[in-house]
Amino acid sequence: MDPDTPLHSPPTRATAGRGAPSRSPQKPSESARIEHAMKTILSGIQPSGRPHLGNYFGAIRQHVAAQEQDAELFYFIADYHALTSTRDPKALRSNVRELAAAYLALGLDPDRTAFFRQSDVPEVTEITWLLSCVTGMGLLERAHSFKDKTAKGMKPNVGLFTYPILMAADILAYDSNLVPVGKDQVQHLEMAQDMAGSFNAAFQQDVFVRPEAHIPEHDLSARVPGVDGEKMSKSYGNDLWIFESGKALKKAVNRITTDSRPPEEPKDPSGILLMQYLELFLEQDELDDWRAKVTAGGPNAPGYGHLKMRLIEAWDERFRDARERYEHLMTHGHEIDEALAKGAAKARARASATRDRALLACGLR
Ligand code: TRP
Repeated sequence: MDPDTPLHSPPTRATAGRGAPSRSPQKPSESARIEHAMKTILSGIQPSGRPHLGNYFGAIRQHVAAQEQDAELFYFIADYHALTSTRDPKALRSNVRELAAAYLALGLDPDRTAFFRQSDVPEVTEITWLLSCVTGMGLLERAHSFKDKTAKGMKPNVGLFTYPILMAADILAYDSNLVPVGKDQVQHLEMAQDMAGSFNAAFQQDVFVRPEAHIPEHDLSARVPGVDGEKMSKSYGNDLWIFESGKALKKAVNRITTDSRPPEEPKDPSGILLMQYLELFLEQDELDDWRAKVTAGGPNAPGYGHLKMRLIEAWDERFRDARERYEHLMTHGHEIDEALAKGAAKARARASATRDRALLACGLR
């Protein structure tokens, strides 16, 4: 796509009356009828460290594949949200870079998708304030995620408490129609719907578009186990970095838990952690073959060492090209910066139009 072509045509209002804010005498608007040429899909990604296999199979892969859809995509790295819980500037900086480089290396096309840092779009923080003025304390007090975090002993700062408002601003700033989220984020999405409705109703104007959640049918991230068999997660320390290679890759695969049963012993393949990893990488035919051999046992059955070797090979093959692109990007940081700057420009164009509508509606302009 020609990078100079705007990704979306200017919004048109379905309601009559150019320029003048539309007013519905009967009933406050629930959702603005802001129409773009294509529907808008938005996703926010937490910069929580080097992306691991769970991130890849659970999210990154789907994010990249969504580029095939007939929609406008806005993906951002939620660095402002990260600040609610990190006090390590160096780590935050490198987490953001590693995440950006990983997405670009794994197929995110910055000419196709607006890919940017949340903090590069100041309009989002402006919208956050406007939304906070129509959001009841009670709504935030009911947030599961806030309650969970404080129950775990996290000392809440105000940013953690108002996290859902910033998230709503992320979503509403870009007139998002669809937001793919995991189950843990559904309540936050409902809050964004509430806030859009409250603002539109309070000022009797079509300002914010009501977003819909898109919950994937199968939560694939739940199917990626960590090296200990629990769900793979950075916070459990059981995660495996996507771009591991050479000796480090062997070491990583060796961390995957096995047991001391001999190869000849017939086994249920579904009870073998290594097989669960192979499922992520191998074609169905080959997988069936390994499963059959493991189940049968006997002299031809593979030992865990064989399974590990095959996994290392398949992993290396799957990510080799992406890994080379990743290494290139990490040593040519300006290419990452350029991609993010391009995304930020597209994002700001959309967010500033929304911010202007909101300022006008509430009387600040
Ligand atoms: N809270 C989301 C998470 O933890 C990240 C996020 C921030 C987000 N803003 C968003 C996701 C807007 C979707 C839309 O994963």
